[in-house]
Amino acid sequence: MKEQFILPDSTYLLSHSVGRPLHSAKQHFSDAFFAPWEQGKTEPWQQWLGGVDAFTQQLATLFNSEAKLFCPQVNLSSALTKLVHAHPRLNKAKCKVLMSEQDFPSMGFALQKSLAERSEFVFIPASVDVCDANVWERYLTPEIDLVFISQVYSNSGKQAPSADIIGLAKRQGVLSLVDVAQAAGIIDIDLSHLQPDFMIGSSVKWLCGGPGAAYLWVNEQQLGLCEPKDVGWFSHQNPFEFDIHHFAYHDSALRFWGGTPSVEPYILAAHSIAWFNEFGVDKVREHNLALQQALIDAHPQFVVSPIAAHERSGTVIVHAGDKQEALMAQLQAHNISADQRHLGARISFHIYNDMDDVERLNSLLQRLV
Ligand SMILES: Cc1ncc(COP(=O)(O)O)c(C=O)c1O
Repeated sequence: MKEQFILPDSTYLLSHSVGRPLHSAKQHFSDAFFAPWEQGKTEPWQQWLGGVDAFTQQLATLFNSEAKLFCPQVNLSSALTKLVHAHPRLNKAKCKVLMSEQDFPSMGFALQKSLAERSEFVFIPASVDVCDANVWERYLTPEIDLVFISQVYSNSGKQAPSADIIGLAKRQGVLSLVDVAQAAGIIDIDLSHLQPDFMIGSSVKWLCGGPGAAYLWVNEQQLGLCEPKDVGWFSHQNPFEFDIHHFAYHDSALRFWGGTPSVEPYILAAHSIAWFNEFGVDKVREHNLALQQALIDAHPQFVVSPIAAHERSGTVIVHAGDKQEALMAQLQAHNISADQRHLGARISFHIYNDMDDVERLNSLLQRLV
C-alpha cells in the first residue's frame, strides 16, 4: 500500500494533520486541469466544473447522501460563518449554542463572530467525558438553538456519540451540526442514517485530498430555509441569466457557492476520495484499529485516549508522564513524525502505515519503561 502514496523517509504518523497524497494525483491533476488547455480548448470551464461535480458526487458516495446537498467550501470556519448568516434560527437576535470546550477553537471563533451579539454559548467543560451520551442529555435543553458536535476531538482522540446526540436534539427541537474534519475517511459516517441538520468537513486529513477542499452538507429539510448572504453568480439558480435585477437561489446546496469558484483543490480531492471510496473506509478503519491495538496492548499505561474501540478515533494519544519530553525527543531522533498537544503525543496510523511502524514506536516506548 505504501507505494501508492507520496511518503517521506520518516515513519509518518500525522494523518490527523495532513494525509499523504496519492502518486496518481499528479497525473490526474494534469489530465483534469491542464489537459483542456493543452488540447487547444479555448474554454476549460466545462471540464473544470465537471471536476467539482466529481467532488460532490464522491462526497455523496462517501457519506451515503446526495450530491446536491453538498456545497464546496474553502474551509470549515468559512462554511460555518456562511451557514450562520443564512439560517433564520441561527441569524436571529439571540441564538443559543451548545458546544464543547474541546471543539477545535476555530469553530468557536467563527461562531462567536458570526452569531448576533446577544447570542449565548453553553460550553460542556473540557473535564467532562464527551463520549458519554448522558452528559449531552444533561446539557441539551429545549432553549438551545444549535448543538455543535465534533465527531472526533482533535486533541483527545475521543469520538462523540453523534447518533445519540442528534436523536436527543431532534426530540428537543434543537438543530444539530456535525464537524467531521477529523473523521472523514477514517470513521464511517452514514448521513442517511445519522440525519443531522448540517455537516461540515474537509479533505486534507484522512482523505489525503489536500487543503482547500472543504464542504458544507445541508439536510434537505433545512435547505429551503437557508438564504446565504455571501452569494455570487454561482449561487444563482441560473448563473448565466445575467440580469442584475433578478437573483434566485439555486435549488441545491450550491446556493452557498458564491462567485467564480476555485476548482483546483476539488479536482485533487475528488481523485483521492474516489480512491478511498473504491478501497473502502471500513477497511482503512479496520487496519487503523489493528495497529492501534498493537500499541495499546504493548503500552496501555501510556495511552490516555479511549481504550474501547467504539470510543476511539483514528488517533491514539500517548503520554509518558515525566518522560514525555524524552519521548518527543526520541521520536524526532528516530525519524518518527508525530506531534503533541496538551494531553500528549498524537499518533495516527493510516493505510500507508504498517506493523513495522508500530514496532518502531513500541520499542521507543519500551526504552522509557
Ligand atoms: C475538529 C476540527 N475541526 C475543524 C478543523 C479545521 O477547521 P478549518 O477548516 O476552518 O481550518 C480542524 C483542524 O485540524 C479540526 O481538527
